[in-house]
Order: sequence, then C-alpha cells, then structure tokens
Amino acid sequence: MITAADVNAAFREGHGFVIRKNMPNRVHLLATVLSNGGGGEMTEVDQPPPGVDLSRPSPARLYDYYLGGRNNFQVDRDAAAMIMKVVPELRDIAWANRGFHQRSARWIAERGVRQFIDIGGGLSTVGNTHEVVHKVLPDARVAYLDNDPMVLAHARSLTNLTANTRVIPADARYPDDVLQDPELCGLIDFSEPVGFLMTAVLTFATGGDPWRLLARYLAALASGSYLALSHMTADNKPPLAVRAFLDVYGNTIRSGCFCSKEEVERCFDGLELVAPYVGATPALCYAGEWGAEDPALADSEGSRWLWCGVARRP
Ligand SMILES: C[S@@+](CC[C@H](N)C(=O)[O-])C[C@H]1O[C@@H](n2cnc3c(N)ncnc32)[C@H](O)[C@@H]1O
Repeated sequence: MITAADVNAAFREGHGFVIRKNMPNRVHLLATVLSNGGGGEMTEVDQPPPGVDLSRPSPARLYDYYLGGRNNFQVDRDAAAMIMKVVPELRDIAWANRGFHQRSARWIAERGVRQFIDIGGGLSTVGNTHEVVHKVLPDARVAYLDNDPMVLAHARSLTNLTANTRVIPADARYPDDVLQDPELCGLIDFSEPVGFLMTAVLTFATGGDPWRLLARYLAALASGSYLALSHMTADNKPPLAVRAFLDVYGNTIRSGCFCSKEEVERCFDGLELVAPYVGATPALCYAGEWGAEDPALADSEGSRWLWCGVARRP
C-alpha cells in the first residue's frame, strides 16, 4: 500500500522526484515510476497528494483520463463513464482539443512570439506546450497556470521543465491577482507579445462572464500578442448528451457551461482572427479543423464539440 506520506516522501523541492537508496521499496517504486514520465499506475496510490479532493472529480483529472493519462482516480473514471454512456466520442473530443492547443501554440511560435501563458495548462501529457514551442524557438518562455492541486503536485515530477518554464498555482477567475503574480511577472515581459493560450478552460473559469474576464487579460497583453481559445459548445448536440456533461461538470464540480458559436466569436471582439487553415477565410472552426492539412478528414464527431480560433491583438 502506498500512502499520502509515501507520495510526500517521493517529492522533493523543485522539479522531479528523489530516488534514494534507503527509501522504503514502495516509495522507491513510486518515485521511479513518477520520475519516468509522471504517472505510473495512480490507481495504486490509495490516497492522493496533499490538497487533492477525491470526493468529486476534477476537470484536470477527467481530461487526463480522456487523454489516456494515469493521473486520475476512480471518482474521475466513474464520472467519465457516466458521460461516455451517451457521448462515446468523449476521448475524441479531448484529443481534438489537445491537437488544436498544440497546433495553435506552434503556429504562434512560428510567428516569432517568444513567450507563452498557458491558462489552465492541465496535467502534462506528451507534447506539452513548452515541448511544442521549443521545437520552433528553443528559448521561448512558458508559464503554465492552473488551480488544480493534482496539476501542481504532478508538475514536480516533470524532469523536462527548463529554466524558461514555470508551473504556477493560479485561479484564472481572478485576473488582477494572476497578472500581478511575482513568478509570472518574473518570467513574462508584458511589454512584448505573448501567446495567450486559453483552451478548454473558460468553460470552468468564467465566473459567469467570459467576455469580461478575457478582456481583462487581453488588455494586459502587448500589441502583436495572440489569443488561442477553444470552448465547448452545445450547438447541434443531442440534449441527452449535453445533459450528461452538465450532470458531471455542472452538478458535481459546480461549474461548466457551453457557448454557442456567436458567444465564442464575442471572445475575439477587438482582435484579428486568423484563417484556421490554408484556403479558409478568418473565422472560428471546429477544434480538429484548425491547422489541419485536410480539414475534411479532421472534422470528426469529437471535434464538433468545440469551437476554436486564433487571433492577433492589434
Ligand atoms: C479541460 S482541461 C484543459 C487543459 C489544457 N488547457 C488543454 O486544452 O489541453 C481544463 C484545465 O483548466 C483548469 N482550470 C479549471 N478552472 C480553473 C481556474 N479557475 N483557474 C485555473 N485553471 C483552471 C483545470 O484544472 C484543467 O487543468
């Protein structure tokens, strides 16, 4: 049995896990597994890292489960199963969103933007933002912000974080606090363009008015910055399927909302939308289509649960 104390023992200050010779075997195993890519069979951890609430699922752990990660617990998998009964394309939704996140981050880096704020960055998977943008600009700076304790605990296991990458605890609903965070301000130069990534986050962090929240963030960004945003939609979706999401995200987590295409378009007010793929006119599109070589092929059932767009701040 691995306990919370074991998990704590496996953590060290900063990033990564300590692997010591005199560790109890179970702690050694845990530290080894986690340091090898962060996860291992989290089902074997009968207690979560400190601060992680197992009385209900969390958006970060649910999303991790959809993407095939191991940083989730039975409560998350049970909740996911409830949705999957009526939304069999659930994993496809997550991958469509993740693909948009990666392609848009890369595209923004290709425009020469050297610093990124990834709001609601989530639990790390393969192809994290810093890995994607560092392929284009190896010295790009990336700040991941999230308010889920599991994300923050897991971040300590990441061995590939560089000096230019930070994982910062922050609640996106409070932009004034976020924008003054000393760690964020130490990494990001707000007088220079920023790639501002807000993918599948506003759903949880609106506080009821996503436009006002976004406007506050965008006002802090320099001209030439880019917003990449995706948002769940109930447009053209069966009511039963929408209900399944709301039952899990709305009641259990007490958050979560869907936006229509028009409502997501309003998030880009005052910005210059870019064309989502070659041959398209500047507009929103479904998540899978953005940046796709063959948008028709990428237009899957899952993709159609998310409107997305990328826009430049003039
Ligand atoms: C569905 S995941 C999306 C992860 C990532 N942005 C992506 O698109 O691949 C939503 C993330 O938003 C985070 N989140 C939810 N509410 C938040 C808040 N108020 N402040 C910061 N992060 C939040 C969750 O913890 C989770 O990691």
